Amino acid sequence: MADFIPLSVPNLRGNEQKYMDEAIRDEWVSTAGPYIKKMEEQVAAFAGVQEAVACQSGTAGLHLALMELGVTCEDIVLVPTLTFIATVNPASYIGATPVFMDCDDTLCIDPQKLREYCEQECEMRDGVLYDKQYDKRVRCVVPVHVFGNLADMDAIMEIAETYHLMVLEDACESLGSRFAAGRFAGRHSGTIGDIGVFSFNGNKIITTGGGGMIISRHPEMLAHMRYLSQQAKNDPFRFVHDEVGYNYRMTNIQAALGVAQMEQLPGFVQIKNDNYAAYLQEGVPLWPFREDIQSNRWFYAYLAPDAQARDRLMAELEKRGIQTRPIWQLMHRLKPYAGCKTYRIEKAVWFHDRVVNLPCSTNLTREQIHRVAQAIREIMGE
Ligand SMILES: Cc1ncc(COP(=O)(O)O)c(C=O)c1O
Repeated sequence: MADFIPLSVPNLRGNEQKYMDEAIRDEWVSTAGPYIKKMEEQVAAFAGVQEAVACQSGTAGLHLALMELGVTCEDIVLVPTLTFIATVNPASYIGATPVFMDCDDTLCIDPQKLREYCEQECEMRDGVLYDKQYDKRVRCVVPVHVFGNLADMDAIMEIAETYHLMVLEDACESLGSRFAAGRFAGRHSGTIGDIGVFSFNGNKIITTGGGGMIISRHPEMLAHMRYLSQQAKNDPFRFVHDEVGYNYRMTNIQAALGVAQMEQLPGFVQIKNDNYAAYLQEGVPLWPFREDIQSNRWFYAYLAPDAQARDRLMAELEKRGIQTRPIWQLMHRLKPYAGCKTYRIEKAVWFHDRVVNLPCSTNLTREQIHRVAQAIREIMGE
C-alpha cells in the first residue's frame, strides 16, 4: 500500500531541535526564559503590532480575553455555530450565555444576520445592547477566521461600533492571513477587534506543541492579561497576589519550538498557498478563500454533494491511506450547548453536511497531492 498521507502534521525541519536543546542545556524549561520574550517579539513584529502575550493555548488566551473584555456570568456572547468548541467553552468557564450565529460563504460569521439579530432580537438601553428574550446584556462578539479565511471585519466592526459590542477575534487558525482591501487593508487577522488570539496547537500553521498568543489594540488590557496569566503575581519574592490569576503562561520549552517555527512562517504560508494552487491544477475544486485578502490558506475544504457522499468519500480515502476529516459538529447541536439560543442558522448546516478537509501539511509533496486528486476523481466518478 502507498504511504499514509496525514491530514495536517507539524513541520519541524528548522532550528527546533537546536533551540530546544539550548533551553534544556540552560535549564530554562518553565514559564520564564529568553525564548518566551523572543517568541512574543517575533509574533508582534510579524502581525505588525507593538506587543504580544504568550500563553499555554489558544483556549487559555480566549478565556483571558473574554474576562478582560468584561464578560461576566450576566452577559451574552455572540459566537458562530460553525467553529471548534474552544471558541465557545471560555464563555462557559465564565458562566456567560452563548447565542449562536450562522456563517456565510466564507464559512465565517454572517455579518448580515449578526446585524439582523441586534436589530430584531435586541434593544439598546442606556447605550447597552440587551437581548429581549433573555433580558441580558450582549457584551461581545467572537468572529472566527475559519481555516485561515477572514471574517468580514469591515462589517463586523461597524456593527460593534453601532451596538457597543466588544470584539474578540478568534484568530487561532489565521496567523499569516491579512486584508488586502477595504478599511483594514494591510492589517493582519487578530489586530482589528479589541483582542485577538492565535493558537500554536500541533495542527496549526506553526506549532509550539501547545500554545497561544494574545494581541490587543489596548496596551493596558494586554498588560493585565499578562499579569493574570502568571498567577496575578505582584512581586516575584513575596507571594503577593491582588487578583485571582491563572497558570496560563507559555513555557520556555514551548517558546523555543515556537521561535524556530516563526523563522519559517513566511515560507509555510507560501507552501500552503502553493499546495492549494496545486490541488486546483489537479482539478480538485477546493472551496475558495476570499479574494480581497491574502490568506495563509491553512486548511483546504472540498465540498461533497451531500452528507452521504461526504461520508463515503472519507471512508474510501481512508482505505487508500489518505486522512481527511469532516468539519466540526455545529456547536448548537452539541450536548453542552443544545439548549442555547440560535439565530437563523441555515448555511452552517449546509456546509456541515458537505465539507471534507483534505491533507494540507506544509511537507505534503506534489506526488501526494496528485494521489489525493486521483483518488477523489475515482471515488466521485468525475
Ligand atoms: C477556531 C479555533 N479556536 C480555538 C482553538 C483553540 O486553540 P488551542 O488548541 O491552542 O487551545 C482552535 C484550535 O485548536 C481553533 O481552531
